[in-house]
Amino acid sequence: MEAKIAPSMLSSDFSNLASEAHYMLQCGADWLHMDIMDGHFVPNLTIGAPVIQSLRKHTTAYLDCHLMVTNPLDYVEPFGKAGASGFTFHIEASKDNWKEIIRRVKAAGMRPGVSLKPGTSVDEVYPLIEDEEPVQIVLVMTVEPGFGGQKFMPEMMDKVRTLRKKYPSLDIEVDGGLGPSTIELAASSGANCIVAGSSIFGAKEPAEVISIFRKSVEGAQQNKQWQR
Ligand code: DX5
Ligand code: ZN
Repeated sequence: MEAKIAPSMLSSDFSNLASEAHYMLQCGADWLHMDIMDGHFVPNLTIGAPVIQSLRKHTTAYLDCHLMVTNPLDYVEPFGKAGASGFTFHIEASKDNWKEIIRRVKAAGMRPGVSLKPGTSVDEVYPLIEDEEPVQIVLVMTVEPGFGGQKFMPEMMDKVRTLRKKYPSLDIEVDGGLGPSTIELAASSGANCIVAGSSIFGAKEPAEVISIFRKSVEGAQQNKQWQR
């Protein structure tokens, strides 16, 4: 699986979003991770479709949107129109309507993904991966969603290993507390899409951190380290 390194723009200077995005792409980012929080599903409020629409005017980059919202279905159309690339919703907020969400996300030209909070069991996402209209990425939260700068939860790696063994060609993303000291564990467990906010934006040389992430994922993928 290809490595995708996605700086979380939550850690950027939101008042200079376009230039921060350009800087990350210059530093080697593959995707830009956009954290959408509604102040209800999580105790924090960030950005919505209008900001995605504004940023889209400045870049053709893949905008990996992570929706930490109570009613993901309501966001599909606005995000599609705004130019989002990936639409990753939470299983905890979509137990009754995930099929409808996936269908509408695809119809809107976006790539569907599902995310799970630390307390949610991994088997809850199997039906979404095995459906005839499946999600194309699973985002395993490695912190409680809501804020950047939290500590990585290594116990979440069981979920990543389980998913990687069961679905060898699935995009598996990890989000929360990723940095040079935690990437090895995440990569060797089978994660290939890496989200990181504070460790990238807080670094003197973000390009170096992005390159450490990439090497780690590529090495682990080559040796299939999760099989050991
Ligand atoms: C947290 C967000 C993350 C956050 C990660 O709810 O989903 O994307 O920005 O930040 P760091 O890398 O600082 O833990
Ligand atoms: Zn996120």
